[in-house]
Amino acid sequence: MVKNEHMDYAYEIQKLKRQKNVIILAHYYQTGDIQDIADFVGDSLALSQKAASNDADIILFAGVRFMAETAKILSPGKKVLLPDMNAGCSLADSCKAEDFKKFLDENPGRTVITYVNTNVDIKVLSDIICTSSNAVKIIESLPPDEKIIFAPDRNLGNYILNKTGRDIIVWNGSCHVHEEFSLEAILKLKNENPEAKVIVHPECELPVRMIADFIGSTSALLQFTKKDNAKCYIVATEPGILHQMMKANPLKKYIPAPPKDSTCGCSECSFMKLITLEKIFKCLRDEKPEIVIDPEIILKAQKPILRMMKISEKLGL
Ligand code: 13P
Ligand code: SF4
Repeated sequence: MVKNEHMDYAYEIQKLKRQKNVIILAHYYQTGDIQDIADFVGDSLALSQKAASNDADIILFAGVRFMAETAKILSPGKKVLLPDMNAGCSLADSCKAEDFKKFLDENPGRTVITYVNTNVDIKVLSDIICTSSNAVKIIESLPPDEKIIFAPDRNLGNYILNKTGRDIIVWNGSCHVHEEFSLEAILKLKNENPEAKVIVHPECELPVRMIADFIGSTSALLQFTKKDNAKCYIVATEPGILHQMMKANPLKKYIPAPPKDSTCGCSECSFMKLITLEKIFKCLRDEKPEIVIDPEIILKAQKPILRMMKISEKLGL
């Protein structure tokens, strides 16, 4: 389609949504215009919970591929659409099934806990899936002597290891966005804004986590800024989350943590930012690209995700 500069995509999307009984789920790292047309905005855990329980016929996922795949696995009877199939994840891609199988063979007898940020072929090799919201609690829910493998994020893995003191072997993967934050630049900002609190996602490197006033998943960071009484925050996660922080508390100041390379803009997730209102409109209109997963794979991948959902529900998460 030729790009129509005058088309009101937000309006057209609302029309298509009603006609086709669609729910739009958006991650906090999407741009503000997308978050504003979504039916539900959340972190990976909340989005999975919403994907598993809604009355829509079609789920349109404004996020990255592993999230849309998780929605399909949890709602296999629904059509799940992702506006751009190139919206991958560097963290998911840092754990290839062939290498991971070898790693499991070399470390037998361990419960395999993987972060939801993985491709489906890793999920089928896992015992329990977790997200950054529930990782610590899921591990704490297991018997204290249970030996664990955690993959793929080394920073989240080391954070959990230190928090729980459990016997955990961590896969050496990482997210290019969260490893990009500069400790020096954050310290400089802190010096210029001594009243600011530094709030950090656990996918960040240890030196950045060490200077944090608070560490948590995207929704935990958002909740923290809502309840805390500081007036200024330096936010070390993808800056898309600032949209909800500003909506909730517009009088507070939120400073995105700068990346190591100040010229690259690489604290933004380039995969998340592939999704645009125009692509969402076309995707709803044409009902493609669609997430298609072999039903047998869905059944295998469902088990560890449902285990996560069950534990989370029990813990009230
Ligand atoms: P959460 O949504 O669990 O905070 O994860 C952040 C992330 O990196 C998603 O890609
Ligand atoms: Fe993946 Fe990192 Fe982007 Fe999240 S922010 S989708 S972990 S590359």
